[in-house]
Amino acid sequence: MSFIVRKLIVNPKIPGDEYLSVYLACDRRGWCGMGGGPKFDRRDFVKILGAFGVVGAGGGLAIPIVKYMMPEIPKAYSYPQTRLVWGDGRPVRASDLEVNKIYLFNYPLHSTPNFLVNLGDERGEPVGVRVKLYTNMSPLNEEPIIFKLGQTRLVEFNVPGYGREYVVEGVGPNKSIVAYSAICQHFGCPYPAMKFYPPGQQVPLARSELVVKGGVIYCTCHGGAYDPYRGAAVLLNPPQRPLPFVKLEERNGELWAVEVLGATVFGKFCNTCAAEEGELVGSETVVREV
Ligand code: FES
Repeated sequence: MSFIVRKLIVNPKIPGDEYLSVYLACDRRGWCGMGGGPKFDRRDFVKILGAFGVVGAGGGLAIPIVKYMMPEIPKAYSYPQTRLVWGDGRPVRASDLEVNKIYLFNYPLHSTPNFLVNLGDERGEPVGVRVKLYTNMSPLNEEPIIFKLGQTRLVEFNVPGYGREYVVEGVGPNKSIVAYSAICQHFGCPYPAMKFYPPGQQVPLARSELVVKGGVIYCTCHGGAYDPYRGAAVLLNPPQRPLPFVKLEERNGELWAVEVLGATVFGKFCNTCAAEEGELVGSETVVREV
């Protein structure tokens, strides 16, 4: 029976089903709340089937009732291929991005901001990343990676976890340019409540010694922390999932956003399930310094 329920309510185009329970609480625009919304269990489903039998025998009203009872599945668009540009329209190139400075851009929706960072160490030398991780994970509870003089400046790391596996790899000459969602995976606090603190920059009011020296993305709402050098894996709960990773590509020296990998942006079961087509960013999105 549960198989039938799954088939009826899971959009087969959406990989994975970990957002199933959240999906049931989503509204038509794909935004979802903590609780609320229609909920089904096995007993409810049996009752509904019984009701269908009575109604069907009585007057053929089963189809409108099914439509009413079943949550509407918003359309899932494919990820836009979007060139990053400055406010004056110039394309963003890897060489434009200062090490350890925060830039923001919206992708894949106009309402979903992301960090764009050229990661570096405490001396401002670029640090490349190539990290394999999973959509679900326990916190690392480890020191953030802070490089000492003479160490290799490429982080190659496997973060343990479960769920879908994906790879976070930086772009640019040093593989140090990455982009992550700027919306916390816990309760959805966005920048500036959550922001990147470069190595050596004190995190104000940090609730743990682990993160006080920087080199982290820290959320002041409830003290959650992510490690941008290890794919934005969770360093400190309460977040349970890494920050979604915006895959970048270099095309003729210009930076493009092409896809979101890993967990979906907080509160959504699908990053491109926009009820209206205009919610997706188009062929260009503006990058701004903060
Ligand atoms: S919203 Fe970020 S830790 Fe709670």
